[in-house]
Amino acid sequence: MEKISIFIETYGCQMNEYDSDRIINSLMANPVKDPEDADIIIVNTCAIREKADHKAVSAVGKYKKLKIKNPDLVIGMAGCVAQLYGKKLIKQIPHLDFVVGPREIPKLRDLVFDIKQSPNHRRINTSMDVEEVFKVSPYHQPGKVNGFVSIQQGCNKKCAYCIVPTVRGNEINRPLKEILEESRLLINQGAKELTYIGQTVNSWKYEGEKFYNLLDHLEELEGLERIRFTTSFPRDITSKMINSMKKNTKVCRQLHLPVQSGSNRILKQMNRSYSIEWYRECISKLKESMPDLSISTDIIVGFSDESDKDFEETMQLVEDVKFDTIYSFKYSVRPGTPGEKMTNHVADNIALDRLHHLQMRQREISLENNTKQLNKSYEVLIENKSKNNPNELFGRTSQNKAVYVKNVGEEYIGEIVKVTKIEAFQNSFIGELT
Ligand code: 5AD
Repeated sequence: MEKISIFIETYGCQMNEYDSDRIINSLMANPVKDPEDADIIIVNTCAIREKADHKAVSAVGKYKKLKIKNPDLVIGMAGCVAQLYGKKLIKQIPHLDFVVGPREIPKLRDLVFDIKQSPNHRRINTSMDVEEVFKVSPYHQPGKVNGFVSIQQGCNKKCAYCIVPTVRGNEINRPLKEILEESRLLINQGAKELTYIGQTVNSWKYEGEKFYNLLDHLEELEGLERIRFTTSFPRDITSKMINSMKKNTKVCRQLHLPVQSGSNRILKQMNRSYSIEWYRECISKLKESMPDLSISTDIIVGFSDESDKDFEETMQLVEDVKFDTIYSFKYSVRPGTPGEKMTNHVADNIALDRLHHLQMRQREISLENNTKQLNKSYEVLIENKSKNNPNELFGRTSQNKAVYVKNVGEEYIGEIVKVTKIEAFQNSFIGELT
């Protein structure tokens, strides 16, 4: 097969972004920016909330016109919605040639080859039972400063609201050797910062090695300047992990630690396996050990029969911890989850009110936290040119704060420079070289 042109539209989490880059390499394809130039179009979908999975179907819908114009165009759907509704989607969307689940990405080349041979035969590839799920490494745009490395597929936790175990299967940990090999590959292509990803990344273990040992191995990678990882599961944060993070010279001062609720009653129903006291203690230990650590979280409002009091407890946690960022969501019932069988539901308008309240307060807190960093100097890894202002470059601090740096030349891209923050916003800063 000669090199084909591919256009991918990606929804959802970093795992999906990573998978989209693997799709490019799995097909040995050439990524294009305009769907009109593509031989193959793939929508890589997210099923985490109902809204996201509706979006997936309408996203595929808009490519129908192109298929009419060019009947040789191959259109596929990948990701978690593909996994969840496989056959149904093929029935529902006549111009869809195939669906492929996350675990089948390494087999995509054969699949597309097959379609080219017999185009009228539409394919559903959603097997979970695939060997070598990690086989293909992601495409890396030459010179790109950051990249992702998956260290884990699937999830063994059984959170009552969550569809991930259904669509991505049980936890499979990637062998250490492969993690290091893929890291080196990306570093050789210009990556300075790598984000190690998994659904519960800090539960990683392989042949006696634990996540905290993995951090030591990663620190030794030559040419790698910064290490990030996401998403951590609170219950799997250990003292050893905290110590390992603290002493590691490359691990960034950033942790995403989803709490989901501030109420023990709700945490229990969610099956999160920790109490709010335990979570608070964990945050204290982390901050004590690394005072400049930036902590973000995820919160779901309106789960099951969440009462006003439960929600107040969530708000109290938010007041006390002062997270830098909160990703907050209204609970959405997902098929096949334990949550689907729960009969008590918070009314939609109440859940929405709670969500707005939380988001409004958090916007203030984020800005307050950021304002405290003004006129101080931080190390910023410059990633690229600013999209809005030709006189600015874009980079991030170790705490993952976005900074637009004034009056610097493009030669700084890929470099870590000292920057003084001179203007603070809720989600970013303006800075100048210190
Ligand atoms: N409804 C709303 N939010 C959800 N999340 C996961 N499942 C659901 C659901 N059914 C949120 C959680 C998770 C984040 C990625 O998405 O907060 O941490």
